[in-house]
Amino acid sequence: MEGGEMIDRFDLSVASMGEEHLPEVTRIESDSFANPWSPSLFRQALKDGRTTSFVALIDRKVVGYAVLWVVGDFAELGDIAVDRPWRGKGIGDRLLVDVIDACRVLGARSLFLEVRVSNTVAQQLYRKAGFKEISRRGRYYSDPAEDAIVFGLDLERAGRLDGSASRTVDRE
Ligand SMILES: CC(C)(COP(=O)(O)OP(=O)(O)OC[C@H]1O[C@@H](n2cnc3c(N)ncnc32)[C@H](O)[C@@H]1OP(=O)(O)O)[C@@H](O)C(=O)NCCC(=O)NCCS
Repeated sequence: MEGGEMIDRFDLSVASMGEEHLPEVTRIESDSFANPWSPSLFRQALKDGRTTSFVALIDRKVVGYAVLWVVGDFAELGDIAVDRPWRGKGIGDRLLVDVIDACRVLGARSLFLEVRVSNTVAQQLYRKAGFKEISRRGRYYSDPAEDAIVFGLDLERAGRLDGSASRTVDRE
C-alpha cells in the first residue's frame, strides 16, 4: 500500500435473487433509473422460468443485481445496477462475469442488451467485457427521450472473463 492509503477488503458473493432481496433491489433500482422496474416486474421475473436473476452481496446486504433472460440460444441482459456507494469497485464487472457464465451454462450463443447513448459508464463496462455495438434504436428511452445503443456479445467467440480479481475487492 502506498502513501498511507486506507484499503479495506470486503467479501463479495453472487447469489440467486429471491423475494427476500426485493426491498433492497427495488430501492437500488429506483435510485439508479428514471423509469425503474416496479416490484411486481421483479416478482414476475423471479417466477419466469426463462429468467435468471442475481444479487451481489456483501455481508448479506444487497449491493447490486442483474436480470437475464435466456430463450434458446439468445440471451438478453434486462437489468443491471450497483448501489451508488459501491460503484467503481468491481461489482458490476463481477456481476457481468456471472451473467456471461450463466448464459454459457444455459446454452445461449449470443447476449444482447440496450443502453442509453449518454450512459458511457455502462458502455465502458460492456466494451471491456467484449460487447460490440450492433445498432441504435431511435428514441428508445423516455424521461429523457434518448436513443439506445444495442450491444451484442458473441459467446462462442468471446474469451472467458477473469472475475477472480473482483471476488475479493479492495475498497479505497
Ligand atoms: C453501470 C454499473 C452497473 C457499473 O457497475 P460498477 O460496479 O460501478 O462497475 P465496476 O466498478 O465493476 O467497473 C467495471 C468497468 O466499468 C467501467 N466504469 C466503471 N465506473 C466508471 C466510471 N466512473 N467512468 C468510466 N468507466 C467506468 C470501467 O470500464 C470499469 O472497468 P475498470 O475499473 O477496469 O476501468 C453502475 O455504474 C450502475 O449501477 N449504474 C447505474 C445503473 C446503470 O446504468 N445500469 C446499466 C444500464 S444499461
